[in-house]
Amino acid sequence: MDNPFIFRAYKSKDLFCDRQKELETLVKNSISHSDTTLIAQRRIGKTGLIHRLFDEIKTQKLPVIPVYADIFATRTLEDFVKVLSESIMSAIPEKSNIGKKFSKFIKNLRPIISYDPLTFAPQIQFTLQNEEEKVQTLKGLLTFLDGQDEKILLAIDEFQQIREYPEKNVEALLRTIIQKLNNVTFLFCGSKRHMMLDIFSGERNPFYRSTEFLTLQKLDHDVYADFIERHFLSAGIKIDADAIERILDWTRTHTYFTQRLCHTVFNMGSPKIDVSLVNQAAAQILQSDAVIFGQYKQLLTAGQWDFLIAVAKEGEVSQVTSRQFLHKYHLGNPSSVSRIVDSLIDKNILDENITDGKPIYSLNDVFFSRWLEESY
Ligand SMILES: Nc1ncnc2c1ncn2[C@@H]1O[C@H](COP(=O)(O)OP(=O)(O)O)[C@@H](O)[C@H]1O
Ligand SMILES: [Mg+2]
Repeated sequence: MDNPFIFRAYKSKDLFCDRQKELETLVKNSISHSDTTLIAQRRIGKTGLIHRLFDEIKTQKLPVIPVYADIFATRTLEDFVKVLSESIMSAIPEKSNIGKKFSKFIKNLRPIISYDPLTFAPQIQFTLQNEEEKVQTLKGLLTFLDGQDEKILLAIDEFQQIREYPEKNVEALLRTIIQKLNNVTFLFCGSKRHMMLDIFSGERNPFYRSTEFLTLQKLDHDVYADFIERHFLSAGIKIDADAIERILDWTRTHTYFTQRLCHTVFNMGSPKIDVSLVNQAAAQILQSDAVIFGQYKQLLTAGQWDFLIAVAKEGEVSQVTSRQFLHKYHLGNPSSVSRIVDSLIDKNILDENITDGKPIYSLNDVFFSRWLEESY
């Protein structure tokens, strides 16, 4: 039997735990032309949820064509246009009506089209475009989508990446184009909270209050526990309640880490799972990831490293500049620690989660956190 605990791309509804409420909201927004901004920390399940939504749209045969564009690796507006056109091309069947029209539209732009030899995903290279032509191509793509009979849902993952582009006024440009569309609904997704909030709720910014916000919290403890038990049982494996508790506690119910630990436990091939087996699997993961964690040390200052050890030992910290915390771990003065906090958030190593209006800090990588906690 295949391992039911996935920590890579979304596979199926059955292997995806819960998110019913969020899914309902997204389905509703997709068909009612409401744009949504989905913000949550890394590896909690945003991309998975987008694909779960697409799956739902397809199985319910909803009158929406979903298009997924991941702009994580884009560096310029040109890359953005490229990824967008490739995403549209992958999403609509070549032989359908829209597909034929789209091919024609794209060919007018004289691109070089090739196919990835492994995935067969289309790769589009536009030739010799100046700034103005790039903007026109972008407008053309979105206006093309808008002109179709069917509604389109365009999910743009890691949207905050547009802030890294060297071109000026990218947000204003996008917002101006998007505002005019009647048939395309957007789902903007991102993990850099500060940036995403600034884009969509910064009063001076073009996207100010243009979308509905949706945040993803950790999965519900009990619902996740049932999910885990059920998937072990259906493979004929009996898992103790204590062992499930240990899994959720050690991974802090953070989706990717919980999935990966369950995956490793499952692979141990035992018909009966107790706490000690879970501990063995956890140790195995830390041992394998230690190579990566060791490298982090080279990339960080001694101050940053010591700070991370302190947060790891605490698990999570709400007042990172309190005298008590600084004193306990010999961390120096509040202003230098504030700078460390900012730079670690920026590097995506530290997570700042706002609960009841107050920030709580923890390491983004739960396994790294557990490793520091045990090693120092
Ligand atoms: N609700 C869920 N149930 C089971 N696995 C999930 C769930 N949400 C996410 N995952 C898995 O966890 C991993 C991390 O999720 P992902 O969607 O990539 O996170 P994000 O996009 O927030 O960084 C992926 O392998 C994904 O398949
Ligand atoms: Mg993602």
